[in-house]
Amino acid sequence: MWPQARCSQTEQHDQHGLPWLGWHRRYSRLMINLLDHLAAALGPGGVIIAPEDIAPFGTDWRGLVSNMPRAVLRPRDTAGVAAALRLCAAAGVPVVPQGGNTSMVAGAVPSRDGAELVLSLSRMNAVRAIDAAGLTMEVEAGVTLRAAQDAARDAGALLPLSIGSEGSAQIGGVISTNAGGNNTLRFGNARDLVLGLEVVLADGTIWNGLRRLRKDNTGYALRQLFAGAEGTLGIVTAAVLRLARAPRQRQTCFCAIPSVEAALDLFARFRDEDEAALYAFEYISGAAMAVNQSYMPDFRLPLETASPHYVLLELATTRRRDPLRETMEAVLADALEAGVITDAAIAESEAQRAAFWAIREHLSESQRRAGASVKNDVSVPVAAVPSLLARAAAMLGARHPGARMVAFGHIGDGNIHLNALQPEDGDAAAFAARGEDLMEDVNAIVMELGGSFSAEHGIGQIKTHAFGQLRSAAEREIMHRIRAALDPAATLNPGKLF
Ligand code: MLT
Ligand code: ZN
Repeated sequence: MWPQARCSQTEQHDQHGLPWLGWHRRYSRLMINLLDHLAAALGPGGVIIAPEDIAPFGTDWRGLVSNMPRAVLRPRDTAGVAAALRLCAAAGVPVVPQGGNTSMVAGAVPSRDGAELVLSLSRMNAVRAIDAAGLTMEVEAGVTLRAAQDAARDAGALLPLSIGSEGSAQIGGVISTNAGGNNTLRFGNARDLVLGLEVVLADGTIWNGLRRLRKDNTGYALRQLFAGAEGTLGIVTAAVLRLARAPRQRQTCFCAIPSVEAALDLFARFRDEDEAALYAFEYISGAAMAVNQSYMPDFRLPLETASPHYVLLELATTRRRDPLRETMEAVLADALEAGVITDAAIAESEAQRAAFWAIREHLSESQRRAGASVKNDVSVPVAAVPSLLARAAAMLGARHPGARMVAFGHIGDGNIHLNALQPEDGDAAAFAARGEDLMEDVNAIVMELGGSFSAEHGIGQIKTHAFGQLRSAAEREIMHRIRAALDPAATLNPGKLF
């Protein structure tokens, strides 16, 4: 039997705008059989094949890679994922797992045009349970990060993971990429919040490791193996996440800073005063703010005058009687007197706090609107951040005249987004064409400082080159062996990592 959606395609155009020539031309007999079986296994709406419907699944958020999948699979449950992977493995057809498709490194789109199937987790979007006493939540992979945060908040708890794309990023992708974000400083990355996982392997085997334990030393920590594996070892279908108590007070401040060194000085002052209360400490360069003000003017600078550097920081506590505001004001007053900050605005309402964070969260989007950019998501030991920024700026000026270093990031944990933006009125394609060279130049500086060329975005398709060059043969060999043990035919998310 033919899947229903297929019949409606005969008079349309394919994704290249060419007349649809009929299934027999586009698909091999093997693929037709596979799609038939998948449609039967996944039920109504489980297989999408119309070109206009699959198009969004083939292009990454940054528009860097565009490879159309042959079809998009949308299982409703774990059994559906297992059935789909079993059928695809038997046919030798590669599968690309996809969540919100907000990867910065093209980690969730096909690596070859027309050769792979995308498996979207978006219909698996139930919050299965929240244990308010044990502070855990069990969620399916397709729940957006924001929906999970909201559910935790409604239960009086906090899911302490916050990233710019949280409205669309899904839990499965967040775990598979070990996302970091604004609260890593206080609560760690996604992997630090994972207590249990449910994963489907390439051959359809289901591993149910949805345990809620804080202590569990039974053999290898398998959940940690799948976290950050970018979907190359198995598809995460559900997770048990560690929650925190919801803070009773927050104080959020936007500061103007004279130098990067001063930003680290301010960081040390707050950490020294109350490390546990320091939930976020974010750096924004003057260049990043300028791009934001030009392309997203609604998000206005909350200070009188522009500065070469800014910090957005947040203190929070669950304590009822903690003098958090006094702490914030006292540290800022001392910092002002010492010339560590030149100005500061403390949010006076939840609306103001949201406005401060909106600036930070739209930096990537404003940069995307400004033209071609080369993203370098790097980390170095915190004390080396000033040197990193200075050396990267000097390199850019010498090797890519006119390009702007739109730097910002999670300075409190040494993770800076050293994003180079094309020269104003320059040629976007010409700048993008030199992207790999530029990345290599940045990576050379990062490696000299003992850092990582991929701090929180992963390797995806964009950084495979660096991965091959900058990680030792032994390290890559270990990863290859693990991959070969779990997915010997390498049909899960091919073209990523290696
Ligand atoms: C962010 O922190 O906003 C993103 O991870 C960074 C980026 O867009 O490079
Ligand atoms: Zn980031």
